[in-house]
Amino acid sequence: MTFWQSLPKPFLVLAPLEGVADTVFRRIVASCAKPDVFFTEFTSADGFCSPGKKAVADNFVYTPEEKPIIAQIWGKNPETLYNTAREAALMGFDGIDINMGCPDRTVMLHGGGAAMIDTPAIAAAAIQAIKDGIKAAEKTLPVSVKTRLGNKKNVADTWLPFLLEQGLDALTIHARTAKELSKVPARWEEVGKLVELRDRMKVNTIIVGNGDVKDAKEAQEKYEMYRVDGVMIGRGIFQNPWAFDRSPLPHRGTPQEHLEVMERHVRLFTEVWGNRKNYAILKTFYKIYINNFHGATDWRVRAMATNSAPEVLALLEELKATNLV
Ligand SMILES: Cc1cc2nc3c(=O)[nH]c(=O)nc-3n(C[C@H](O)[C@H](O)[C@H](O)COP(=O)(O)O)c2cc1C
Repeated sequence: MTFWQSLPKPFLVLAPLEGVADTVFRRIVASCAKPDVFFTEFTSADGFCSPGKKAVADNFVYTPEEKPIIAQIWGKNPETLYNTAREAALMGFDGIDINMGCPDRTVMLHGGGAAMIDTPAIAAAAIQAIKDGIKAAEKTLPVSVKTRLGNKKNVADTWLPFLLEQGLDALTIHARTAKELSKVPARWEEVGKLVELRDRMKVNTIIVGNGDVKDAKEAQEKYEMYRVDGVMIGRGIFQNPWAFDRSPLPHRGTPQEHLEVMERHVRLFTEVWGNRKNYAILKTFYKIYINNFHGATDWRVRAMATNSAPEVLALLEELKATNLV
């Protein structure tokens, strides 16, 4: 039995979000309302096994607050997948996931992400390489795949049964094709069909549904309608840092609390990354935090014009002193 099977139903997963959900943001999310499972940002197996490893390996930094945590890998080269899985297993991750859904051009040109949907034999070899890498580390970790309904067109009818035959412990389905990016509503009825197929095939693969779910309440609705085991939330966290709060009256966070979270985020980012990551990354988050009070737009513009953590922290002090929030 893997940890996936012992989770509550429906369990909630923070989506892998490249450039966003690093150890710092995952800890911030956990401090507001904790998901049941975390994913790392996707990490190139070729990059992890190259001289540039040090920068790539930042993706694999995590703390106990972010557990259980899955290391997500992308790539199609069995040798680097094997080596990356072996090392990740030794780093104490709770599972390894392979990305077979990313629509990014560079990833697809390398035959990874959603390109794997069109090359099932390569996908099967990739899964096997990861299983072998885990075995080489003398661990028994669950292996999972995160994918879409298809690459250019919906091939769920063939692709998903194929994946269910690969002995996966969990399968996350982002219910759109890669070509659709996130531009059309997620087809949750396809997630429901996948759950039925899993039951018909009598395999143990845990099914995680993904696409357009904003918070724990909506996840519960999806669970009741489509009988998924778990629900993954991605962009919902940008609208509400308390998206994973399951209480009957979920916390939304006052404008003041948003600013407190922002301050914690800036301080933790500086503490963890120092100058290793560019300050500009933090600006991605300011629209989440500086919101919903009179004059918020002007303050956000000023925050976006800052060039360092001390500068934005001083701005927050100034904002607090105004009594606007
Ligand atoms: C900024 C950003 C980065 C992402 N990075 C990854 C990633 O590293 N790995 C992955 O499997 N999916 C990635 N995704 C896709 C999300 O995990 C998720 O599947 C998608 O956003 C749909 O879920 P949502 O509608 O809840 O946002 C990313 C999405 C966004 C918006």
